[in-house]
Amino acid sequence: MPLEPIERASVDELRSLQLQRLQWSVRHAYDNVPHYRSAFNAAGAHPDDLKTLDDLAAFPTTSKEDLRANYPFGMFAVPREQVVRLHASSGTTGRPTVVGYTRDDIDTWAKLVARSIRASGGRPGDVVHVAYGYGLFTGGLGAHYGAEELGCTVVPVSGGMTERQVLLIRDFKPDIIMVTPSYLLAIVDELERQGVDPRGTSLRLGILGAEPWTEDMRREIEERLGIDAVDIYGLSEVMGPGVANECVETKDGPHVWEDHFYPEVIDPVTGAVLPDGAFGELVFTSLTKQAMPVIRYRTRDLTRLLPGTARPMRRMEKITGRTDDMMILRGVNLFPTQIEELILGTAELSPHFQCVLSRSGRLDSLTVRVERRPEVSAAAAAGAATSLAAKVKATIGVTVAVEVVEPDGVERSMGKMRRIVDNRV
Ligand code: DLL
Repeated sequence: MPLEPIERASVDELRSLQLQRLQWSVRHAYDNVPHYRSAFNAAGAHPDDLKTLDDLAAFPTTSKEDLRANYPFGMFAVPREQVVRLHASSGTTGRPTVVGYTRDDIDTWAKLVARSIRASGGRPGDVVHVAYGYGLFTGGLGAHYGAEELGCTVVPVSGGMTERQVLLIRDFKPDIIMVTPSYLLAIVDELERQGVDPRGTSLRLGILGAEPWTEDMRREIEERLGIDAVDIYGLSEVMGPGVANECVETKDGPHVWEDHFYPEVIDPVTGAVLPDGAFGELVFTSLTKQAMPVIRYRTRDLTRLLPGTARPMRRMEKITGRTDDMMILRGVNLFPTQIEELILGTAELSPHFQCVLSRSGRLDSLTVRVERRPEVSAAAAAGAATSLAAKVKATIGVTVAVEVVEPDGVERSMGKMRRIVDNRV
């Protein structure tokens, strides 16, 4: 299927388009959103100063707290009547973050998700089972509009009711499933429970995202279901799903759709812009959004920018952690995805696990609660737990307790997985 001309544009052509769009977007934010006008003024930055892409570094970053402080509609740059859709992300504390879209924004979003599905290997005419949640979360409706835009037959299932998910997969015979990777594993378990061979379904492609997942998890999903599993990335503040997407032919990290989003990676502590290839916090500036432009929005996602492969646009390394789900245990920084990688390398244990943080006295401790695989005996799983704790100690350098629970003993999430339970006070 032919690429859009911009997907084939040279890096120089792309940079020149980005500069032109960036100048528009920063001016649009400055003229129409009081928060940006005062933040730019306070930093001594003015839209007229933006002569090259590098000049963006002089502008202040924007955080989730800024969005919260302007709750609900204070970050909108158009009259509320021009906003045809609202979404919101709940976050872990307090008020939700509200985002708005004009009709053109919805159209751009649908086209970018259509591009993402195409890059993943989807084609017009495919049947697409959407198991991302519908509602204020951007996953369901974002996937839905994109799949329709591409010319697919959309099955808007939403999350939950796993038995019914399986029924619909068996009866409607979808080619593609769009769902969080953790919930897809719960669906695979349910297929097996019903005596259906997961490799025998009609599915050939999973477009998975909304939460971090590892290469080992990709391998497990691809092997158990006999499909291609491709990574879709996005966040509501910047648009929703489809800010970046992997290409099925390389599966080497999502390509950022740079004609609409300008990415930077910064040092999360100093805020300094880091060169491509360096690891830090991902920051996005929207280039075309009308209703809610974001200028240098701090995603809290940790990654690095890499050169393009299947497309000239840059890639981001698969996200393995967020600045806010990093656990610090006796001075050692660790992420749930590191634990996941080790669990996936332990045949007796299932990938369903939780990290439970607690405090005894002044010391923090971490217990990894993990299910044994149904076919494995409790005794064999206990042995595996000991070896998992040893692997964690050897590779990450921290002592953790491993508690093996029965199959289904860890709560399944139908949406985003919350890996960390923080019981510390
Ligand atoms: O999760 C949008 C989305 C829906 C993306 C469906 C992909 C598929 P939020 O609820 O605002 O939006 O959460 C955004 O989720 O900052 C990341 O921390 C995480 N995230 C999203 N996609 C990925 C991914 C949607 N592919 C936050 N890999 C982001 C790792 C991801 N983390």
